[in-house]
Amino acid sequence: MSEFLDAMAFRHACKAFDSEKQIPAEQFDSMLEVVRKSPSSFGMEPWRLIVIRNPNLRKALKSACWNQNQITDCSELVIFTTDNDTVRSDSPYVRKMFERRGLPTEAVDMYMGVYKNYLEPIEADELLLENWTAKQCYIAMANMMTYAATLKIDSCPIEGFDKEEVEAILDLEYGHSVAVICAFGYRAKEQSAQKRLDLAQIVEYR
Ligand SMILES: Cc1cc2nc3c(=O)[nH]c(=O)nc-3n(C[C@H](O)[C@H](O)[C@H](O)COP(=O)(O)O)c2cc1C
Repeated sequence: MSEFLDAMAFRHACKAFDSEKQIPAEQFDSMLEVVRKSPSSFGMEPWRLIVIRNPNLRKALKSACWNQNQITDCSELVIFTTDNDTVRSDSPYVRKMFERRGLPTEAVDMYMGVYKNYLEPIEADELLLENWTAKQCYIAMANMMTYAATLKIDSCPIEGFDKEEVEAILDLEYGHSVAVICAFGYRAKEQSAQKRLDLAQIVEYR
């Protein structure tokens, strides 16, 4: 519990990364494993991560990301993209994801029906579908950032980007979209104090 809270206190949205410091490969691998272990709605795991290491690609992305220095200066730059077509209710992928639970066919059919009911109004609108898959990415990204903080690795979640421009630069396949970006590395200077509302302002009991 306290180790977790320590990590929550350590984590800041790091604006200035030390561009000389690299995250050890085995630690970064373990951060990716945390994404893999994250929960997702109906267990669909819609995230598809792109780790950007190529400096020229980073430079191009920086201009599409409000020129934020984190894009070029961080140690690992992770783009959370989603494969939206694959999670549509008529996709064989969805059946496979239910089948892997080892359930009898009737139970898989039942899950497929519940899923279809849930997803139909969402998948009718591409933007709603992208938002639904993106929500899952935010959970995974939050886990990844907090876990990184336990390793004293800094992060910056990034929503400040031109989505269309980033998608064009990455040349994403049809049906794929960018959900959110996260930079990881080491702070170049001390972080300022965390500013938060009081609990009384954000929680009510009924
Ligand atoms: C979804 C999301 C998107 C964000 N996008 C950016 C961003 O583009 N650039 C940036 O510098 N900070 C970004 N932030 C960081 C927030 O500004 C920051 O978390 C907030 O001000 C609280 O500060 P702290 O995280 O340092 O405690 C983002 C945070 C979240 C959760």
